[in-house]
Amino acid sequence: MRASAPGKLIVLGEHSVVYGHRALAAAVSLRTTVTLRPHEGLTVLGESAIRDDRLDAALALALPSRGYRVDIATDLPIGRGMGSSASLSIALLRLRAALEGIEPDFTWLHAEGFALEQIFHGQPSGIDHAVSASEGALVYRRGKKPRSVSMPPSTVVVLDSGTAGNTAELVAGVAARRPAIDPVLDRLGELVERSLPHLDDARALGEAMDEAHAHLAAIGVSTPKLDELVGLARRNGALGAKLSGAGGGGVVLALCPGGGQDTLRAAQARGIHAFRCTIPCGGQDAHATEP
Ligand code: PMV
Repeated sequence: MRASAPGKLIVLGEHSVVYGHRALAAAVSLRTTVTLRPHEGLTVLGESAIRDDRLDAALALALPSRGYRVDIATDLPIGRGMGSSASLSIALLRLRAALEGIEPDFTWLHAEGFALEQIFHGQPSGIDHAVSASEGALVYRRGKKPRSVSMPPSTVVVLDSGTAGNTAELVAGVAARRPAIDPVLDRLGELVERSLPHLDDARALGEAMDEAHAHLAAIGVSTPKLDELVGLARRNGALGAKLSGAGGGGVVLALCPGGGQDTLRAAQARGIHAFRCTIPCGGQDAHATEP
């Protein structure tokens, strides 16, 4: 039995979402797939592309304690703010639902996913597993029910900085720079509100992403490497580019509706790991569980 779930990219609104503003995030066409095979005795982890001390605790919470071998594969880079642990949590829950004969709706996945994500992230805002469960684009406000938004699928190029950012430290760093940076956090929030009615206008969205990156740099979560990747993407055909996620490392998201060939080529020529995917993913992959 096999189930999969997508990772995510934050399109607009990271960090300001912590202070009550709305954020826009989308599922990506890269997934984590979990396969269950019958196994005598205790449930065990078999091959896993995700290595994490907290995996055993997550498996124990999500699956029966006996009878299965669990193999985990993922297309997602690990620890880069693309929701690899959330996609694992949602794939595990889809398997549990199949074992228990439940049809897993969004509300169930979101509630159960929160408990699993707490194992990996302590106090997550909940945006990652909400997006993974929805398989689409979401507007997210802390403490409120996430709202699906319609966003035409677009090709993006993801450029990997090669290092992981520490979300908890970055969020704490932003908190320490308040109240001086509050006007910038407000501008990030306003940018999301201004952009939501025009998600079908790639040029406007690209401009909003550029502006978001400038604000994120102003609150201190970008790095010289992230700024370099953003500049490289913009000079090579992207309509807009920004860091995505907590920053301090992680990835840059470049909007490339034309396919991103030039952006990819320029990144590869400089030895930067970059790849193409689609946001929001949706479509026929959605809710993938196979017997
Ligand atoms: O975990 P990441 O890298 O996707 O980023 C989290 C987004 C923040 O807004 C920085 C924190 C949060 O909990 O929303």
